Amino acid sequence: MEQNQNLSQIDDVQKEHQKYIVPIGDWKRTHSCGVLNAADIDSNVLLMGWVQFRRDHGGLIFVDLRDREGLTQIVFSPEVDPSGHERAHILRSEYVLAAKGYVRSRPEGMANPNMRTGEIEVVVTDWRLLNTSKTPPFEVEDRVEASENLRLQYRYLDLRRPKMAANIRLRHKTTQAIRNFLDEDGFLEVETPFLTKSTPEGARDFLVPSRLNPGDFYALPQSPQLFKQMLMVGGVERYYQVARCFRDEDLRADRQPEFTQVDIEMSFVNEEDVMNMAERLMARVFKECMGIELELPLPRMTYDQAIAEYGVDKPDTRFDLRIKEVTDILRGSEFKLFSASPLVKALRVPGGEAFTRKEIDDFTDFVRIYGAGGLAWIKIKENEWQSPIAKFLSEKERKDLTEVLGLELGDIVFFQSGPADIVNPAIGNLRIKVAEALNLIPENTFAFTWVTDFPLFEYDPEEKRYVARHHPFTAAKDNDLELLKTGNPDNWEQVKAKAYDLVLNGNELGGGSIRIHSEDNQKVMFNALGLDAEEANEKFGFLLRALEYGAPPHGGIAFGLDRMIMLLAGANSIRDVIAFPKTQKAQCLLTDAPNSVAPNQLRELNLRLREKTQE
Ligand code: AMO
Repeated sequence: MEQNQNLSQIDDVQKEHQKYIVPIGDWKRTHSCGVLNAADIDSNVLLMGWVQFRRDHGGLIFVDLRDREGLTQIVFSPEVDPSGHERAHILRSEYVLAAKGYVRSRPEGMANPNMRTGEIEVVVTDWRLLNTSKTPPFEVEDRVEASENLRLQYRYLDLRRPKMAANIRLRHKTTQAIRNFLDEDGFLEVETPFLTKSTPEGARDFLVPSRLNPGDFYALPQSPQLFKQMLMVGGVERYYQVARCFRDEDLRADRQPEFTQVDIEMSFVNEEDVMNMAERLMARVFKECMGIELELPLPRMTYDQAIAEYGVDKPDTRFDLRIKEVTDILRGSEFKLFSASPLVKALRVPGGEAFTRKEIDDFTDFVRIYGAGGLAWIKIKENEWQSPIAKFLSEKERKDLTEVLGLELGDIVFFQSGPADIVNPAIGNLRIKVAEALNLIPENTFAFTWVTDFPLFEYDPEEKRYVARHHPFTAAKDNDLELLKTGNPDNWEQVKAKAYDLVLNGNELGGGSIRIHSEDNQKVMFNALGLDAEEANEKFGFLLRALEYGAPPHGGIAFGLDRMIMLLAGANSIRDVIAFPKTQKAQCLLTDAPNSVAPNQLRELNLRLREKTQE
């Protein structure tokens, strides 16, 4: 209560201050607040910005004035401008002002080496108050730890913080580098519709009711996939778009309901051509935005290798812990959990012998997230293997494990056994968790890898059928086309796709494929996915028709721009590199979206809401 009174008092004061506001008039900025230095001493300057901080000291008033380029200390002196100095007593945080003055060296010993403009200050000869501000709910400084919800509610203040301003600038710079590269490489930027028909990419669509077609809906695009393919049929040959995509899926730190792709498609190409272009694009971004020379070609591994050695299809290759399969060694083991398992995998962790019981218990809880029943482990100690399962292991098994895993004193080995779809994600994600615990992940390192030769299908246990792993427009490897044409789902597991993902530090940065460009093969694919001719026609007739008219061989890739900037900026969440992101509950705290709409709006759209059911 007391605090509220305080705030409203300040608001009254602020109201009083508003009478000092004057128009900007013909005053023009001469410099930003981030550039002045000793070379500018004695120049006359005019700065504009926000009050970061005011200090009254020895009759002088000091203000750190901030704009998007930085901070400059300005000084109001009673000797230089008596009335201006008097008025300066009203200045509070985030007031907006324009100040004319001259640059002088800071007094002996007062220079601030941590500030770009730290050698100088500007003595104010005249100034104008351009606006007042309420007391901000958090200080506009990187150091201040405001809750994310408060930051999102007052995003315009948050964006003034140097870190956020730097992220927004990096995003601009990156997008600019991408546009320049693609333009020089012969790509045309083409916009595709937002109001469209749903194209399945595995997530739920956002739907938009059509007023003019009562009962019908548009879907917002999950990606411009089919439009970019039709642009290839349309002879565009090389297309790109910085494209907003919409997916109604559960959100995480690296997912937003609307996000941006750098979406690319090329005609007359194979996988190598697309990957080569994508690498050169990344090299350009890293050079221009980070000053880093990427060594090309980027490393590659197949999907099978990624799963075998890293347990996941987006391996973090910044550290070298590898997973090994030990099923055969333990096939006859007395430890029945191992000998009866279709798959046993081991992760050797040098130095892991020091993990405490509590840490191992935490790892055990962690693997349960992935459906694992538990976590077996062995500590390799002088003269003994310390482990709840050691007594079950024969001399031969110990010898083979030592040899295959390269075991040494001080190691811990973790084991996962069971079906592959539990063992792999459990041990693959444990690998990362363990590396974090042991501080094995180097900072400021960018480790890329391509993952290639993905399976074309994956089994969806919920739908009890095979679905496209990438999307239904991805071509099978030429050698596997015959398998596909057999029409026998028993063969689907073996069919590989002309698909590739680019992974950076364990994040899927982008993915793409060579597409099916023959109508016949597209029909075979739809058929394999369980879509009968009628359904395929209803959903994708427009694509099938386009493929009948001389579609060129084509393929492409889409990068997640938000993820790319997040990794470049070293941010923890893509929310920190999006100007106006949504919360984990897909809400915009700034505008309060989504919200209810007026009954007449619903009526116009021919919609009626169902009564909210009692819960
Ligand atoms: P895909 O679905 O793999 O491919 O998406 C491409 C890239 O977009 C990013 N991404 C996301 N970023 C933030 N929030 C999300 N919800 C989100 N979902 C995806 C990822 C991902 O690698 N049409 C195909 C591309 C193609 O085949 O050319 C597609 O959309 O970084």
